[in-house]
Amino acid sequence: MEDEYKSAKYYDKFLHLFVWRIRKKVLEIVIRNKYKTILDVCCGTGNQLKLLKKHGVDGTGVDLSKAMLVIAEFGKIKVKCHEQDAENITFNNESFDMTMTTFALHEKSNSSAKKIINEMIRLTKKNGHLIIVDFSINSNTSLLARKGIVFIESRAGDDHYEHYKEYVAYNGLNNLLEGLPLKEIEKYYFAFNGVVLKVLQKQK
Ligand SMILES: C[S@@+](CC[C@H](N)C(=O)[O-])C[C@H]1O[C@@H](n2cnc3c(N)ncnc32)[C@H](O)[C@@H]1O
Repeated sequence: MEDEYKSAKYYDKFLHLFVWRIRKKVLEIVIRNKYKTILDVCCGTGNQLKLLKKHGVDGTGVDLSKAMLVIAEFGKIKVKCHEQDAENITFNNESFDMTMTTFALHEKSNSSAKKIINEMIRLTKKNGHLIIVDFSINSNTSLLARKGIVFIESRAGDDHYEHYKEYVAYNGLNNLLEGLPLKEIEKYYFAFNGVVLKVLQKQK
């Protein structure tokens, strides 16, 4: 796979203003639920895992981009991330109290995104949690959020943008999560209703 994230060293700085509230919300949920084993699927630069580690919570990640993984293992706080395909992760079934993925599903084709979520379900313990953060574009989304997201996505590369448009056309996470053995237990909106964070419990 061609590494789309060659400019990984600018990634966190560029997105900081947009994501910091969301990262803090994930931290709050993690601390409240006292998860012991955490997997960040498509962890990118490990930015979320680093925030967790700063607050004493360890987690591990998987990502396919070497450029992103280098950043994860660099700096004052380093996190362990594995170079692995999120559609076919090598960890054993039900290894984690919580699996999460943030801002990754919208850039995948519908079938890829579904495979990734199924891997997360496989890897999560019974009654464990999945945290999914991604765009949510509907009638409640402000025009500012819509325009801002399209601006970012249209500059992220052709495949990326085509998949984003497909994600929106297919009703985003609602479609991806339909019919899966997951119960939504918490939901939060961010960025003028352009982003949703869902906490889901694995049902069987
Ligand atoms: C938009 S970035 C999000 C990164 C991070 N989760 C965050 O919140 O900043 C999407 C990430 O998904 C990774 N990715 C895409 N397809 C993947 C796959 N099949 N397996 C593993 N990682 C993948 C990319 O390399 C990239 O780091």
